[in-house]
Amino acid sequence: MSADAKTTNADPEANRAIPRMMSETDMSIVRMAAGLLPENATIIEFGPWLGAVSAVLAEYGEVHVVDRFIWTDQNESRVPGVAAVGESFKFAFENFMRLSNYKAIIHVADMREFKWLGKKIDLCMIDAPRKSNDLMGCLQAIASSLHQDTIVLVKNGFNPQYFDMMALVEVLLSQSIFDLIPTNQARWCNIAVLKSGAKFGRMLELKNSVDIFDDYPIRSGTEDAWGGSMLAMARIAQYVHKLDWEKAYDELSNTKPDIENNYNWDIQSNYIGLAEAELGKMVEFSEHLSLHNDPAMNSEARIPFEKSPALARRAYWKHRKSKHWRDRIVDRQTMERVFSENFLYWPAKLEQKIQQRTVLEIGKNLDLSGIGYCVAGVECYVGIDTRKDWLPEYNGGMRDPTRDLPHWLNEALLDLVVVTRLVGFGVPLRNIDFCLVDAADNTSLEISELLRKYFSKNSPSTEFIIIEDSVPSRRL
Ligand SMILES: C[S@@+](CC[C@H](N)C(=O)[O-])C[C@H]1O[C@@H](n2cnc3c(N)ncnc32)[C@H](O)[C@@H]1O
Repeated sequence: MSADAKTTNADPEANRAIPRMMSETDMSIVRMAAGLLPENATIIEFGPWLGAVSAVLAEYGEVHVVDRFIWTDQNESRVPGVAAVGESFKFAFENFMRLSNYKAIIHVADMREFKWLGKKIDLCMIDAPRKSNDLMGCLQAIASSLHQDTIVLVKNGFNPQYFDMMALVEVLLSQSIFDLIPTNQARWCNIAVLKSGAKFGRMLELKNSVDIFDDYPIRSGTEDAWGGSMLAMARIAQYVHKLDWEKAYDELSNTKPDIENNYNWDIQSNYIGLAEAELGKMVEFSEHLSLHNDPAMNSEARIPFEKSPALARRAYWKHRKSKHWRDRIVDRQTMERVFSENFLYWPAKLEQKIQQRTVLEIGKNLDLSGIGYCVAGVECYVGIDTRKDWLPEYNGGMRDPTRDLPHWLNEALLDLVVVTRLVGFGVPLRNIDFCLVDAADNTSLEISELLRKYFSKNSPSTEFIIIEDSVPSRRL
């Protein structure tokens, strides 16, 4: 205990009379952390409000408090009559401290502008920021005064309601700037209890800007206080909140699959607050998050994808793990069409052969066929569609595909990327393992003959499979 900080008449009873926002559970954590401090510790508190926590901290050392001391509407509804709304309540803080006979050195300042120029800090209690940039402001204010045993307590550091701030806690922990002190804290106690990590010096280098997060992708396995992945969920929530679906899916791929995360995401997603128009995308993202975390998705067991659109979506996600997120997602309506229009029939029949292989399909009205084959797990799918009315669109304005197509194939066979209507599956006509040919379409058969000659010289292992359309026809 610091003789300087605490007067001889210090009165813990009077301390208890000071209004406080933090709970008794929070206070037990504060006391536990303060108990780890050396004699005459230097303590700084951001956001002391009326001083209830400051008076407890003063038992352990010299306390500096940083607050702008402006009484707000919320303060007024919590404890009416302390000060006029919009006016300073510094005098009330001073009165309460006087009453309890503990001392605190006051710094009237905005947390975003304050700079600490004093001694090394042993403990920093932060209960003012709700956003990552404000938390960063507090931490940068003391960055040059951290030492290897500094303890930092961040109230709401594990509160999914403030996921943006929690996301910064993830970066601090994953970059070893801070480590977690184990606390056994209850689930409802959201204080992040941190101590300097091996790289605490890097606190000085972190830039205070929104794109800091892009510099530090989620590190899988950065645990929250309960050994779970709420910090990663907070990082993902940040991107969802910004409607940056690309990043949200990318970051999802960086998390370790864990069934618990379905539950964690249920909690986290409640606080994102998207406009109604975005909820469809949110539901879709949540479905994919659940697929990502489903243990069955990581087992060897076959998914009977031909049985339902939902199973087909699972298989699609499972088989396309290594693909960019855009190539792993098919929306529900599209997969319902793939299913109901029989685009899964042949992929299911050929599944054993074509998994992880490159398939070229030649047919008429291929439409969603490529998705069907990707559901079955092909590595690459190329489609040549002989339907006349849309060939020109893809093949340089040919007017008469029946006349031009063979010529075009001869000319450009090697390098041309042929795609079906689907974007993203196109590959050059090389290294084809299987060539699937629509037996009901003469143009397809003609093209396949040309290709057969070409492949017999250049790719003798390419196997031709004639697709007899014995299923209820999907062809127009
Ligand atoms: C939630 S209260 C702290 C409650 C206190 N820990 C307790 O349990 O009684 C937040 C405090 O942060 C202060 N604060 C909020 N925004 C601030 C800012 N931008 N700069 C400095 N202080 C700020 C408020 O004046 C208030 O005293």
